[in-house]
Amino acid sequence: MSTGNELARVAAAETGTGKPEDAVAPETLALIDTYLRDHPGGTERLIPVLHRVQEELGYLPFPVIKAIAERLGISPIQAYGVVSFYHFFTTTPRGRYQLKVCMGTACFVRNANSVLESVHETIGLEVGGVTKDRLFSLEQVRCLGACGLAPAMMVNNEVYGYLTRAGVRKLLQGLRAKARTPHPGGEGGNG
Ligand code: FES
Repeated sequence: MSTGNELARVAAAETGTGKPEDAVAPETLALIDTYLRDHPGGTERLIPVLHRVQEELGYLPFPVIKAIAERLGISPIQAYGVVSFYHFFTTTPRGRYQLKVCMGTACFVRNANSVLESVHETIGLEVGGVTKDRLFSLEQVRCLGACGLAPAMMVNNEVYGYLTRAGVRKLLQGLRAKARTPHPGGEGGNG
């Protein structure tokens, strides 16, 4: 969600006092350019290209939003407005796999703490943290609407239920192995 500070940073970027485009990694610029080249069209490509870049980076830094906006011929403020409107976009670092461990009542009484502990034991993450390789981030939420599956955790858009310590460990190890496997065609391995 947007804050006054974030908007100020976007405005600074637009007027040239923020981070210049050369702060964007060349691979990220190449990803944007490739996506736009492979998907000809107009500004309707904004959301898909934002998705593609966030899938790769785990979040959308301001210089990246600005670079995308410039290529689509819209203002960075306009692009930022879209990013801040949709909850699935984030301007703060998150992992490629966003773990949301439910600590709501149903999950709590079914030992949701052990899920958090297993995440910590397996990938060393505390709540609010992101792994150094930006593969995983960890949040705690109140209810996923899947109380019948307690204890539950979401990984990106998918809910995993009846979790045990061993189950969590296996799930995270599987995701890590999947992330290390090259994806034909360059598509990300979310979900
Ligand atoms: S309390 Fe965990 S899913 Fe509802």
